[in-house]
Amino acid sequence: SPELNPGLLPIDWLLGAWESDEPGEGSFPSIEPFRYTETLHFSHVGQPIIIFMFNAFEAESKMPLHQECGFIRMQPGTNRVAFIIAQNSGLMEIEEGELTGKQLSLKTDSLARISFAKTPKVKQISREFQLRSDGRLEQTVSMETDNQPLKQHLHVIYRRPS
Ligand code: HEM
Repeated sequence: SPELNPGLLPIDWLLGAWESDEPGEGSFPSIEPFRYTETLHFSHVGQPIIIFMFNAFEAESKMPLHQECGFIRMQPGTNRVAFIIAQNSGLMEIEEGELTGKQLSLKTDSLARISFAKTPKVKQISREFQLRSDGRLEQTVSMETDNQPLKQHLHVIYRRPS
């Protein structure tokens, strides 16, 4: 595989594969709570850019539910991070934020959707990734829709596949 671009060193801990340890927890005021599993893949081709693919499944039936893919870039010489994300639901997003230690905190900078995406409309997404001291990766996602204020939608902890 290509040599790691030094621009990725601050976030090289994301690279490779992850899978949900315990099933993730989904929630939102307007839906039934649910459990899901998820795999994450972060790779690179030698540029200072991470390429990612997330695949989420309904926990019991293993039915595919949600997918996201995209790119992660850092502004050189700063702790500013940008995620460029496409979601299977018809949403496209730019999230921006900061790297602090081994924690990424991001929120929506811009959002677009296909004309026939499901309602309600997502207005804002905020998410955190954190590499924990036990080597596991944690992701928390909150969202605001046109009929609910910003509330948590997802919480999940990943480990390296065995
Ligand atoms: C529901 C957005 C990720 C599973 C929803 C709803 C929205 C939404 C807007 C409808 C809420 C309502 O009816 O008030 C998002 C966004 C995501 C995301 C923006 C990523 C940033 C995921 C993931 C899963 C998931 C990773 C994992 C399987 C579900 C389920 C429902 C739901 C099961 C309830 C049933 C349904 O409405 O389809 N999500 N979601 N979502 N989401 Fe997500």
